[in-house]
Amino acid sequence: MSDTGTQVNIEASMPTVSPKTSAAEKAPTPSRDVIFEVRDVTVSYGSRPAIKNVTLDVFEHEITALIGPSGCGKSTFIRTFNRMNDLIPSARLEGTVTYRGADLYGRDVDPVEVRRRVGMVFQKPNPFPKSIYDNIAFGPRVNGFKGNLDEVVEGSLRKAALWDEVKGKLRDGAYGLSGGQQQRLCIARAIAVDPEVILMDEPCSALDPIATGRIEDLMRELQERFTIIIVTHNMQQAARVSDRTAFFTTEVESEENDFRSGKLVEYDLTETVFKNPSDPRTEDYVTGRFG
Ligand SMILES: Nc1ncnc2c1ncn2[C@@H]1O[C@H](COP(=O)(O)OP(=O)(O)O)[C@@H](O)[C@H]1O
Ligand SMILES: [Mg+2]
Repeated sequence: MSDTGTQVNIEASMPTVSPKTSAAEKAPTPSRDVIFEVRDVTVSYGSRPAIKNVTLDVFEHEITALIGPSGCGKSTFIRTFNRMNDLIPSARLEGTVTYRGADLYGRDVDPVEVRRRVGMVFQKPNPFPKSIYDNIAFGPRVNGFKGNLDEVVEGSLRKAALWDEVKGKLRDGAYGLSGGQQQRLCIARAIAVDPEVILMDEPCSALDPIATGRIEDLMRELQERFTIIIVTHNMQQAARVSDRTAFFTTEVESEENDFRSGKLVEYDLTETVFKNPSDPRTEDYVTGRFG
């Protein structure tokens, strides 16, 4: 199926390797380097919006950090990129999210396929109660992968910087690994189904500083192959690893019941957000005066 523009098939519209556009081509049309376009997105649980009217572009091969105080909707927002909110019955999305130009929420789009292309790693490492090998092989097996599984397992563990530590004990249970190793295992498991994007929701918050450093180094290595979106409450981490930062905060919606919803305050290159923010609320947050 070719890219005809009508009923864009998400599969057909996503080349594995997207060509870089030249500066001349770039000017009139949206940049090819944009992987997600979020337009006026509101996500509500029941009638309560958790994030309101968010508009931003996510760029390919960048690390985009989502920061802001607890409850401002970072987890809700990151879940819009792989339709994980679909799994929460009360959640409802308004606005549009496109992925390589195709409507991510279009009728033809299979959310399971979306989640294969847009993988996710959570706050608490959550390996399956299986061997290291079977954790990585799980996704490819479910997808009916017919190739060489050993190669996929080794390749995924190498990309997640875990191979050298586990190559002699692939049949051991994943729970025997340290927390940091388990989190790299979860990253390897996400990589094993060959995604294009990896979402990470506070992936280091359960880890010690050394394990955190390893994951941060790993993210920098991974961005050559993948696009990464990370939620972090650790501002130093956002400043260290990300290319671009989105700062969210909560605003009171209703004085009556003190109901708050999340708003995107500022989105820019990380250096700008941290060194020269344009909104005083961002400045207060990144300098630690708030939150
Ligand atoms: N599954 C859910 N059902 C109902 N409300 C939710 C759910 N998940 C989150 N919320 C609410 O949405 C708001 C944003 O939460 P969340 O996205 O988890 O924020 P953050 O990750 O920034 O702490 C909060 O008010 C939270 O209580
Ligand atoms: Mg959260």
